Amino acid sequence: MGIKMLVTCDTGFEKVLVNELEDIMKLNVLKVSSGRVFIEVLDKEDIVNVLRSRIANNVYILLHVEENVNDLEAIYRVVKGIDFASFIEPWQNFAIRPERIGKHNFTSIDIGRVAGQAVIDGYLESRGVRLKVDLDNPDVEVYVELNVDKLIVGLSLTRSSLHNRKYKLFAHPAGLKPTIAFALLKIADWVPGQPILDPMCGGGTIVIEAALASKGVEVPCIAIDYLDINILNKLCPECGTYLHSLCFKNYRDADRVFVGVDINPRFVEGAIVNAKNAGVDDVTLFLVGDLREVVPKLKSIEKEFGVEFHTAVFNPPYGHRMKPGSLGKLYEDAIRTLINHGFRTIIFITSATKVSEKVLANFNEIEVEKFKVIHSTLPSYVYRIRTR
Ligand SMILES: C[S@@+](CC[C@H](N)C(=O)[O-])C[C@H]1O[C@@H](n2cnc3c(N)ncnc32)[C@H](O)[C@@H]1O
Repeated sequence: MGIKMLVTCDTGFEKVLVNELEDIMKLNVLKVSSGRVFIEVLDKEDIVNVLRSRIANNVYILLHVEENVNDLEAIYRVVKGIDFASFIEPWQNFAIRPERIGKHNFTSIDIGRVAGQAVIDGYLESRGVRLKVDLDNPDVEVYVELNVDKLIVGLSLTRSSLHNRKYKLFAHPAGLKPTIAFALLKIADWVPGQPILDPMCGGGTIVIEAALASKGVEVPCIAIDYLDINILNKLCPECGTYLHSLCFKNYRDADRVFVGVDINPRFVEGAIVNAKNAGVDDVTLFLVGDLREVVPKLKSIEKEFGVEFHTAVFNPPYGHRMKPGSLGKLYEDAIRTLINHGFRTIIFITSATKVSEKVLANFNEIEVEKFKVIHSTLPSYVYRIRTR
């Protein structure tokens, strides 16, 4: 029997996450819901393989799923019935990490309190030991989510969402989550090593994620502080060696073909700091300027360097603090410039959907697909443009 896991991502990117995981390993997809992918992996080492996802936010080992849970008494009953003795040693402490989605007449704090009591009471009955709670630095984190009336109980393998990549010393005011940045690259059908241009790169997230994947830098190797290594070792003692080997085995050279452009020199400076911090300053290039001027120049010299750029991925401004009409012009100019200079796949994410639809209607020579997603808390679309 396989190991059941829950992997979370930003809403709208579930399918891309499944595709990514299927590229890494064989697995069974049990269910997909908003921002959540339930899977069954076949091998213990696949627990590490799931953590290799560049799109996943949080990863859990699933302990129990129960439907029709409507009140706190039911939560207590279900959680108390789970045997935690194989995951929590008598001398270890734990914390409940509660999550609540939907309308209920109680809060997530109530769920945490009731579920915590249930773990303590269940352990006391089965092992005769009263477990201690430590909310700040627990040995074991138990995830309890009530999703409308479905109760999901799991063990956290991630102590913090994996979108928190440590390289982001410079935080762009409208920076993209690295996990979304990589999802956009997947939507572009980009494969590691291929040149990529972000014509409005801000702090460089998309370019850096492309560079990291191309160099074979694995997420669990750079996010080791965010992982619960104790639980991982407990579930799979051989996983530590596998993880360690990944950090060396998959590392490879790449060419300097990951390019970002931004009109604001301060952001370009920040992108360079982030790239250096990520260890990809040798394969990235960040240029200051208006994309309308820089893209033609970049294309005029590409042959000299034996590189051809035909994929652009970006996250343009959404128009806050911009003059009326100027956002549409920027979008139109950006798409026109890219198409005129041979870009065949253009991906962008924006919450300015009305402006985007209006602009895209002005182009005949393209095919457009769109995917509804949530970016931060904003309903947005990812647009995939291909030239005919
Ligand atoms: C939403 S931000 C991109 C954030 C970026 N994806 C990140 O993760 O940090 C949009 C960026 O577009 C840049 N920008 C706006 N107009 C531009 C233009 N004409 N040419 C190049 N960059 C431009 C802005 O300076 C801003 O940094």
